[in-house]
Amino acid sequence: MTIMNSTLYKLCVAPMMGHTDKHFRYLLRIISKKSMLYTEMVASNSILHNKRNKLNKLEHNNENPVGFQLGGDDPQQLADCAEIVESYGYNEINLNIGCPSKRAQSGNFGACLFGQPELVAKCVKQISKVTKLPITVKTRLGIDDFDDIKHLENFINIVSEGGIETFHLHARKAILKKGVNPRKNRSVPPIEYEKVYNIKEKYPTLKIILNGEINAPLDVVNHLKYVDGVMIGRAVCNNPFILNDIEKLIYKENVINKEKVLSEYFHYIINNFNNNMKITDFTKHLSSIFKGYIGSKHTRSYMCHELNYEKDPLKKLEELLFKEDLWKNGQDLYTKVT
Ligand SMILES: Cc1cc2nc3c(=O)[nH]c(=O)nc-3n(C[C@H](O)[C@H](O)[C@H](O)COP(=O)(O)O)c2cc1C
Repeated sequence: MTIMNSTLYKLCVAPMMGHTDKHFRYLLRIISKKSMLYTEMVASNSILHNKRNKLNKLEHNNENPVGFQLGGDDPQQLADCAEIVESYGYNEINLNIGCPSKRAQSGNFGACLFGQPELVAKCVKQISKVTKLPITVKTRLGIDDFDDIKHLENFINIVSEGGIETFHLHARKAILKKGVNPRKNRSVPPIEYEKVYNIKEKYPTLKIILNGEINAPLDVVNHLKYVDGVMIGRAVCNNPFILNDIEKLIYKENVINKEKVLSEYFHYIINNFNNNMKITDFTKHLSSIFKGYIGSKHTRSYMCHELNYEKDPLKKLEELLFKEDLWKNGQDLYTKVT
């Protein structure tokens, strides 16, 4: 697939642990031809020591363009990982400077690196010695009391000096101190789009991608007046078809049909599923598209759990996906959101 640089980052799907695995990315690529996809974050030492089979996370289905997100703070380890990632055919290395979890803090990666821009720049320089892939950074607007715009500018100055041209900015700060868990820190403190718009104004030559609580296609169009691209996370998990709605708006093309998407994904499952696997690893990504249809709560639970226990899960899945009344009854959320 040819990657057009001018459009590459206009629409990105955020890295999300437990979600943006190769199956979900395959589904998203059927729906959206032009969005930039990202893997979940994988820590560099997990890759180098193949901890808990983390190398499985490197596999993909040519659903390019896909960026591989790395977490780590050791320049040489990250460079070694970047070489491995490139050999698997990914299109970009993305560094995670946004994860506020305790695990990330104890490993000195993720959001705590926001306070160490010189080390981030060093990592970027070391990675760029071993790969020609673009290197990008996904970060927050600050951490704890280190949240003044000057801190963000300082981070961007030093890290861009290290070679980064593209920043994905989750438009809120990370809270590392006790009492706020990472999940909550995706909704609090309030989102600050203006700060990101101002960064783009101040650094017109950098590519600035806005992330955080972008839930409606028309909002994407609005944000694109101020930044180079948007990155969407939870809204895509809640409704993968939103990508098509957005593409329709920003590229005026690519109207896809829901049944066709399901049929293509079903064939992917047939070709890739075997009895040593859980079929729900494939079908959990479909469950959200049943939202809004009659009986959807039961259907979604079935796709995420019970289907594993069927004798012939493929047959059951086929019956479920292509049962006509499932689509004819009920309200189609997909058309409602546009
Ligand atoms: C379940 C889940 C897992 C996430 N995992 C990652 C991750 O691995 N790497 C990362 O940079 N951000 C991760 N995030 C944060 C998202 O990439 C994104 O920054 C955040 O959800 C805000 O965007 P949204 O409001 O569009 O969801 C995760 C978010 C969710 C909901």
